[in-house]
Amino acid sequence: MKVLLTRRWPKAVEDHLSARFDVTLNKDDTPMSAAELSAAFDAYDVICPTVSDKLDAGVIGEAGRRAKLLANFGVGFDHIDIAACEKAGVKVANTPSVLTDATADLAMTLMLMAARRAGEGEREVRAGAWTGWRPTHLLGRSVTGKTLGLVGFGRIAQATAKRARDGFGMTIVYFSRRAAPEEATRALDAKRMETLDALLATSDFVSLHVPGGTETQNMIGAAELARMKPDAVLINTARGGVVNHDALATALKEGPLAAAALDVYPQEPKVPEALLALENVVLMPHLGSATEETRTAMGMRAAANVEAFASGAALPDPVV
Ligand code: DGY
Repeated sequence: MKVLLTRRWPKAVEDHLSARFDVTLNKDDTPMSAAELSAAFDAYDVICPTVSDKLDAGVIGEAGRRAKLLANFGVGFDHIDIAACEKAGVKVANTPSVLTDATADLAMTLMLMAARRAGEGEREVRAGAWTGWRPTHLLGRSVTGKTLGLVGFGRIAQATAKRARDGFGMTIVYFSRRAAPEEATRALDAKRMETLDALLATSDFVSLHVPGGTETQNMIGAAELARMKPDAVLINTARGGVVNHDALATALKEGPLAAAALDVYPQEPKVPEALLALENVVLMPHLGSATEETRTAMGMRAAANVEAFASGAALPDPVV
């Protein structure tokens, strides 16, 4: 069975897959073009893409091509046109659960960095511009005892809530179309808000945990940002398209936001110019799941889907 990995993966996983299948590695680890990805559908049985590959209907094409499985390296799959895959008879699998803790850790990192102005402080030290300790230097805001509002309440949101509640005594509120199971909300003492507006008006920190895609595109725009508390902080480890970045830049310059911290952008690796010019935004290069352990676990999970497919067994993590 011929398998294509579109980017370099942790070596242990590349070795694991190469020992079992005829694997092609993308040796120079640069993004493949749409034409190369499309050609791969005729050359491989399985394609293992990542979030940096745009697999739209044009790339996927019609039924009858060689590739019959996309084993995605990652949990989010908004870069894949799922309807086109269904139409073309291509199965899709992802890697849920294994990156929950790492991504929740990064959400907390971003929250603390934004609250405590860590990026500004680091830039000042590196620029040789620090003039010494003084009582009013780079004052941020406390996290302890504040309210954290989670938009979406899946695995990563709940893991973030647990860290915020157990470690920082934060009050947890969430907005989600579906009510979370009672045992999850009870353990976190989390309150479901009836509307997004109510969550935004209540929270000192708002952390986004909804999937990307058309349903959540620009979910946080000018109107939503205007409803946030004065000096609130927005954290996004979900997908860049969920936030309107022009509106965000305005809210960071003119209020009500004190700060934002972002790991994801609508057209990665481009970062909106308006944000690059601002001090009160922390900008990370999509590092949510970026630990050795987690990326290896993600690869092994994708490999488990490839192996199940090869043996004709049910996929452990089917998306379609
Ligand atoms: C995910 O798993 O969705 C991460 O954002 C990386 O793709």
